[in-house]
Amino acid sequence: MFWESVKLNFDEIINKYASDILNDLDFKKQTKYMQHKNVSVYSHVLNVARYSLKMVNKFNINIDTKSLIRGCLLHDYFLYDWHENDPSHRLHGFTHASRALKNANKVFDLNDIEKNMIYTHMFPLNLRLPKYKESIILCISDKICAIKEIIR
Ligand SMILES: [Fe+2]
Ligand SMILES: [Fe+2]
Repeated sequence: MFWESVKLNFDEIINKYASDILNDLDFKKQTKYMQHKNVSVYSHVLNVARYSLKMVNKFNINIDTKSLIRGCLLHDYFLYDWHENDPSHRLHGFTHASRALKNANKVFDLNDIEKNMIYTHMFPLNLRLPKYKESIILCISDKICAIKEIIR
């Protein structure tokens, strides 16, 4: 299966740079929030981190690996199930990037790359231009992973 092939090589790197995120209780709670079909937010953000690493590896792109991984893992840290009928979940597509950034800022010491990655990952739906290479990579791999998760 697709994910099996990329999983083994990259999980060690993800663990090396983001063990604090992986051990965060709210991060773990994301296993209960569904993102696409039966794929949880937790699985989705890990898929995105792995796929982003795969892209930079394949195209030999020089990036800040630690920031790329951390931004990918936290880009959907909005912490609710957006399928639940709740007025605060309205316009999820337009609002969740800001919410994720706000939540992540409270818990983690984010650098400018990570903040920009989270805040702009919904471009072009949200008209905020990704400013760094890492932000562009997240923006692309998030969409590719979403499609793979929906059609698999
Ligand atoms: Fe998102
Ligand atoms: Fe996402």
